[in-house]
Amino acid sequence: MYVITGATGNTGKIVATNLLAKGQKVRVIGRSADRLQPLAAKGAEPFVADLTDAAALSQAFANAKAVYALIPPSMTSSDYRAEQDRVTDAIASALEKTGVQHVVSLSSIGADKAEKTGPVAGLHNLEQRLNRIAGLNVLHLRAGYFMENTLAQIGIIKMMGMAAGPLRPDLKLPMIAARDIGAFAAEALLRLDFNGPQTRELLGQRDISMAEVATIIGKAIGKPGLAYFQAPEGQIRAAMIQLGMSMNVVNLILEMSAALNSGYMRALEPRTEKNTTPTSYETFVAEEFVPRYQGKSTAARG
Ligand SMILES: NC(=O)c1ccc[n+]([C@@H]2O[C@H](COP(=O)([O-])OP(=O)(O)OC[C@H]3O[C@@H](n4cnc5c(N)ncnc54)[C@H](OP(=O)(O)O)[C@@H]3O)[C@@H](O)[C@H]2O)c1
Repeated sequence: MYVITGATGNTGKIVATNLLAKGQKVRVIGRSADRLQPLAAKGAEPFVADLTDAAALSQAFANAKAVYALIPPSMTSSDYRAEQDRVTDAIASALEKTGVQHVVSLSSIGADKAEKTGPVAGLHNLEQRLNRIAGLNVLHLRAGYFMENTLAQIGIIKMMGMAAGPLRPDLKLPMIAARDIGAFAAEALLRLDFNGPQTRELLGQRDISMAEVATIIGKAIGKPGLAYFQAPEGQIRAAMIQLGMSMNVVNLILEMSAALNSGYMRALEPRTEKNTTPTSYETFVAEEFVPRYQGKSTAARG
């Protein structure tokens, strides 16, 4: 039995679906039976639990062959880092209690740093905490910048007629589609060929800048030459708070953006075929961005 946390989300859904398609037994964790229903219909065993509940996770992880572990983002939190650490502690203590042997965890580029990386510092702590579990074989997937983050540009383009954000326009980032992370994680869970604590960066199809992102989006939505504007911090702060994010989360995102802009937070592995994944930004835009921009999808996630 594989156990998948965040199973209704961007990456977990793909991990669960791919394992089910390979005929594996899968237990899917989420906070709502309704949202888990589509996976249950495909043969998964739904398990309703909050990821801060160590006792519930001990039940969920019982007899697991392997676990896919992630810390879900909570954009309205007044203390995001503390919430991340609560999830980390609950997952780690349930792993210790149940003696699960293999874990694939979702981490990020920059998780090598203990601080000044915003939310990614919480993923550093997740890695460190799981690495301390005696005998655990754990593969931390240090993913690049999610292409899904750029779905936030839909509202910005509609409001301002241009793309905008805190990142430098020319900063080349390893951008990855969440589906590629899910597919890679499912493969790793099937192979279970990692021993002890390990990390693997996942860098997407190629490095790409926000200026290029705007150009690709512009072409796809019939606004050729769409520009990207690096907005001043005050403007970003106001816009994010308007979108319902807490001040604490906004501060962490701005800290992470500064860390990316300065190069403090960056990929460490040279790009190879092992850390390169298939989905191009053009494909992501055609399949995920454009339908949402045109209001044809109800499944938009941040
Ligand atoms: N965005 C980036 O560029 C980036 C880059 C690298 C790494 N990451 C990391 O990727 C992770 C997010 O992965 P993702 O996008 O796959 O996740 P996601 O889709 O945002 O969320 C996964 C699921 O977690 C569930 N969930 C939320 N709070 C929960 C709780 N308290 N207890 C139990 N379940 C809960 C939600 O499902 P229900 O509502 O159904 O419970 C949600 O669908 C984060 O740790 C983030 O730091 C992000």
